[in-house]
Amino acid sequence: MASGVNEKKVCVPPVVCGVTEADRDWQREFLTEHFASPTISSRRAWIDTMGLPGFVAWRGNERVGIVLHTVMRAGAECELVALASAGSGGGVGSALLASVTESARAAGCSRLVLTTTNDNLDAMRLYQRRGWRMVKIYPGAMDEARREMPAMPLVGAYGIAMRDDVEFELVL
Ligand SMILES: CC(C)(COP(=O)(O)OP(=O)(O)OC[C@H]1O[C@@H](n2cnc3c(N)ncnc32)[C@H](O)[C@@H]1OP(=O)(O)O)[C@@H](O)C(=O)NCCC(=O)NCCS
Repeated sequence: MASGVNEKKVCVPPVVCGVTEADRDWQREFLTEHFASPTISSRRAWIDTMGLPGFVAWRGNERVGIVLHTVMRAGAECELVALASAGSGGGVGSALLASVTESARAAGCSRLVLTTTNDNLDAMRLYQRRGWRMVKIYPGAMDEARREMPAMPLVGAYGIAMRDDVEFELVL
């Protein structure tokens, strides 16, 4: 039988662990690869992710994804500042989102918030399918951020000009 045809895709869920100091060098490199820098632009502000808490997804001995968030406090908002996965469609992004959501609920946070860019249709699909709502648009936020960080690409996913921030929330 020919291999690769009609074979069922087998996905093993990643193991998700809290970020430790030993992850920080990898974090810097991985986020720079995805977002041009470990300092992320969100809602017209810059947030340095290097000291933030979060979770790393592992497959065997390899780190395959990360999420960083602001400190969780009872009754307060918590922001997911960065989320990135090494591959796509293997369940890493979903597992990381689930870990943050579970922790935020346990900490008594009132809502989770994140922003993504207007071109990032895959991320928007992921969030909406997991119950997040689109609540605000920051027109031109990426154009402004790019003036301070010119390494940010002009064109993003699907050939769409990367210009705006879109805010999503999950009420807990
Ligand atoms: C967005 C991102 C974190 C998703 O991570 P992931 O590991 O692919 O997530 P999952 O495997 O859990 O997939 C989530 C969903 O997206 C779908 N998906 C993922 N990549 C896809 C692609 N290229 N095309 C279509 N669907 C895709 C999956 O099928 C899944 O769909 P489901 O809702 O039916 O289950 C990842 O693509 C990424 O790191 N992107 C670059 C950084 C980024 O944009 N981060 C978010 C900015 S806020």
